[in-house]
Amino acid sequence: MSTFSLTVDVWRQPSPDEPGHFATHVVPDAGPEMTVLELLDRINAQREAAGEEPIAFDDGCREGVCGKCGVTVDGVAHGPERNAASCMQHLGAYRDGDRVRIEPLQAASLPVKQDLSVDKKALRRVAKAAKFPVAMKALANGGCISCGACISSCPNGSGQLFVGTMLRELPPLATNDAERRERSSKVLAAAEDEFGPCSLLGDCVEVCPAGLPIENLSAVARENLRNRFPRRAPDGD
Ligand code: SF4
Ligand code: FES
Repeated sequence: MSTFSLTVDVWRQPSPDEPGHFATHVVPDAGPEMTVLELLDRINAQREAAGEEPIAFDDGCREGVCGKCGVTVDGVAHGPERNAASCMQHLGAYRDGDRVRIEPLQAASLPVKQDLSVDKKALRRVAKAAKFPVAMKALANGGCISCGACISSCPNGSGQLFVGTMLRELPPLATNDAERRERSSKVLAAAEDEFGPCSLLGDCVEVCPAGLPIENLSAVARENLRNRFPRRAPDGD
């Protein structure tokens, strides 16, 4: 397999309260089948050989299903390949001598813990508002892996694709309308506390590794209306 050299600028930040900077590494043997996380592994192997601390980043399944990974590659949440988690982003579009910039996911609600690792607890707090296991079931039913990329990709830091997917799937899990209304109103309030407003820009659907549709955004407005005007809303939707 052909290999090529990449110059990689990686965000380093020792802790949430300390300033960060880019550190440059050269990887002489990158390959088109290599993923973004494997590129970071390669850099960490170099660092380990030099007796240096590894770069911190999040990962789990490395199969695009757990939602734990997520970095910003050349300005795009997860990376330039559409609808693929960072662990599934391959380097096939890069050529010998190219430069790659890797940063953490970017949003006020996703603060940096260390280097490329971010705190995704804001998503958990919103899910807990609905009753955590129920919310996780709703998200699983909707295909959301809670990666946070939709929030990072949005100029407003909106979590509307995440929240809308949850709100779309919550109603069938409620035993009655009062329960549905209580859960959705709590989720909406928590989401307003954690995330920015949605401007319907649609950047989120381009990065979502689950390929969730823009139609999911409408569940937020629907549940808002149902909660405000309960008698006028039709049953069952
Ligand atoms: S909606 Fe998509 S991008 Fe947003 S958290 Fe869920 S899987 Fe990730
Ligand atoms: S490591 Fe699990 S989705 Fe990327």
